[in-house]
Amino acid sequence: MTQGTKSKSPPMLKFSHIGLVTSDVSAMARFYVDVLGFVITDQGDFGDMKVVFMSRDPEDHHQIVLTNGRPANIPKNTVDPDFGPVIQQISFKMPSLADLRDMRGRLETGGATGITTAAHGNAWSLYAHDPEGNYIEFFVDTDWYANQPFYVPLDLNKSDAEIIEETETMCRNSAGFKSIAQWRSDIAEVMPPQFPR
Ligand SMILES: [Fe+2]
Repeated sequence: MTQGTKSKSPPMLKFSHIGLVTSDVSAMARFYVDVLGFVITDQGDFGDMKVVFMSRDPEDHHQIVLTNGRPANIPKNTVDPDFGPVIQQISFKMPSLADLRDMRGRLETGGATGITTAAHGNAWSLYAHDPEGNYIEFFVDTDWYANQPFYVPLDLNKSDAEIIEETETMCRNSAGFKSIAQWRSDIAEVMPPQFPR
């Protein structure tokens, strides 16, 4: 903590958007619109830079910005090449396991590659690479918390009831188990003031 900020808590802030540099802005915009359902909210040129703004939340003018200018031959992540070399993952929250299955189908037909699934205890996740290799994740929150990282295989072909039962049992038998409501109220205590919901 730097001098002068010691006793004052940081001002409110909330994560809003990310900008991705692409090789083919149009192809990437098509993927995020057609497969993920983003809406282009504005687009244009800024000097030599093509800029596409997109969102799925009217509260945010843009959640993703795409521009051109991606260098060729970006090195792979040196620990696990599935993850991005700089942006490790870009993740989207979904309401239900049915939505995750729906998204899996959309990714399969929409040009994504490397589709995998995992249970994290506090979330069920679907992963894939977008057309330019960015690692994207779709997840559904569970009602439980267990210490992270927590990663076990997830079979989305099982019924919701089976998945829920299996994950809850795993969480209850894992270190740090608590309800997600308890975890949220505990972590809120140590975070600076949050935007009102
Ligand atoms: Fe994640």
